Amino acid sequence: MKEIDSRRSVRKYQVKPIEKEKLDQILESARLAPSGSNTQPWHFIIVESEEMKEKLAAADHNQHWMTTAPLFIVCVADSRSRLPETEHVVLDEHSPEPELKQIIRDTAIAIEHILLEAEHLGLATCWTAWFEQKDVRPILGIPEDKYVCGIITLGYGDETPNQRPRRALSEMVRYEKW
Ligand SMILES: Cc1cc2nc3c(=O)[nH]c(=O)nc-3n(C[C@H](O)[C@H](O)[C@H](O)COP(=O)(O)O)c2cc1C
Repeated sequence: MKEIDSRRSVRKYQVKPIEKEKLDQILESARLAPSGSNTQPWHFIIVESEEMKEKLAAADHNQHWMTTAPLFIVCVADSRSRLPETEHVVLDEHSPEPELKQIIRDTAIAIEHILLEAEHLGLATCWTAWFEQKDVRPILGIPEDKYVCGIITLGYGDETPNQRPRRALSEMVRYEKW
């Protein structure tokens, strides 16, 4: 609960590199995430070059603040974990394949592990996803049968945002029936 409570989306970072052991531990937390039928559809691309960060931020609705983070983790869901023949399948925001929902669901769990483990290690993150597949995939050479679920900024935070509002439990919890 401690990290769940203290985590914030941080949009300003210090110019301070991330220790390799910390990055490895964050990635390990994602590796251990649960997934439907244990399919583990996730892949992670670590991006540190200024050139690539600039391109990704531009494709991600020109969110230039992202480039203050020393590192991005691009989180990709792989349809091959569920569909054997996807070489010629193009997955995007409009794809009807039910498997797409499953791989996005599972990769989202792994991403939340990343956010919480980063918080545990004193690092800050922001999940960003204000992009279209067609704009992000070519930058990193990601095949069209893979789906980018988020670009996570990671670094030491340089702002301490207040807790953002949440709906009350009484609005979302029901007992015994809808
Ligand atoms: C799937 C997803 C996509 C998001 N995309 C963006 C984004 O593109 N840019 C951004 O600044 N924040 C983005 N956010 C962060 C949300 O705005 C943030 O989680 C929400 O306002 C609650 O604030 P908190 O994370 O500090 O609790 C995203 C969050 C999620 C879960």
